[in-house]
Amino acid sequence: MAQPQLEEEKATPRHPKKTNTTRRLQTLNRKGGSGKSTTSGSYAEELGRMGYRVLVADLDANATLTKGVGIRLGELKYSIYDILMSPRTLLETRDAIVQLKHLNFDILPGSENLAFAEPALLMARRQRVLQERLAEVDDEYDFVIIDTAGHESFLHTLGHVYADEVIVPTEADITNWETVVQTLQSVRKVVEDGLNPKMRVRAIIVTRYQQGTKFGEAMLRKLNAEYGDLLLPMVVMQTVRVREAQAFNQPITAYDPESQPAKAYRKLAEHIERG
Ligand SMILES: Nc1ncnc2c1ncn2[C@@H]1O[C@H](COP(=O)(O)OP(=O)(O)OP(=O)(O)O)[C@@H](O)[C@H]1O
Ligand SMILES: [Mg+2]
Repeated sequence: MAQPQLEEEKATPRHPKKTNTTRRLQTLNRKGGSGKSTTSGSYAEELGRMGYRVLVADLDANATLTKGVGIRLGELKYSIYDILMSPRTLLETRDAIVQLKHLNFDILPGSENLAFAEPALLMARRQRVLQERLAEVDDEYDFVIIDTAGHESFLHTLGHVYADEVIVPTEADITNWETVVQTLQSVRKVVEDGLNPKMRVRAIIVTRYQQGTKFGEAMLRKLNAEYGDLLLPMVVMQTVRVREAQAFNQPITAYDPESQPAKAYRKLAEHIERG
């Protein structure tokens, strides 16, 4: 398998954006392993395939999404860490963006150093720094998607300040119910505290659904009963194809567009497109 071609030169638009707006999304769930990075990469790629210009910002020190599209962290000149920690006069956001030639979106790569950025930014109360740095480039994109880590941190706050729409992926397992409730409460708090009055949940998507499991069915029933209006009416099945896609540095929507998970993520992208 050939390595994906990466373009690390200054990102010039591959094509003009499709709309005259920029929509800002955050993929959020306080539970680790709930499918956030898989979901972010999949709907980013799908929106890109639909002709939109899409940027994903990887705001996770694990940099799962960045590594998952074939970027080797050690070979990167700059990452989101450098953008958050340097003034614009030294480094422009554009200089850290990687155009993925084998995929239909650009990425502001994650970094293990984000773990060090967090306490420094918290101490300096720089909760608007991501918003300021993305403002340099975001009018060139139809969609900017923030992928966040599973555990609560100040980095989440940076994403909350920036993003107006939240996508909540959750594993199809009733034992994860509380984390969905907490995630939705945290969005409500962002609005109530005035951190970002525009923020709202756009969709809940059930991932890693295993047919015939009582824990999966119970989760789906409860989500339908309590948050039916937000729930995407198609689940993402747990399948080995998703893992396989990651092994080949691609979201499932690029690797196997006719697979069930790709179709579910297409529904999510269409749902987002409708606004
Ligand atoms: N539909 C699926 N079928 C099979 N495996 C899946 C599916 N969706 C996600 N996974 C796997 O589940 C694991 C967790 O997914 P992912 O990394 O997207 O979660 P996450 O919420 O981003 O995790 P973290 O909180 O650590 O950032 C990964 O190993 C991923 O490959
Ligand atoms: Mg992740």
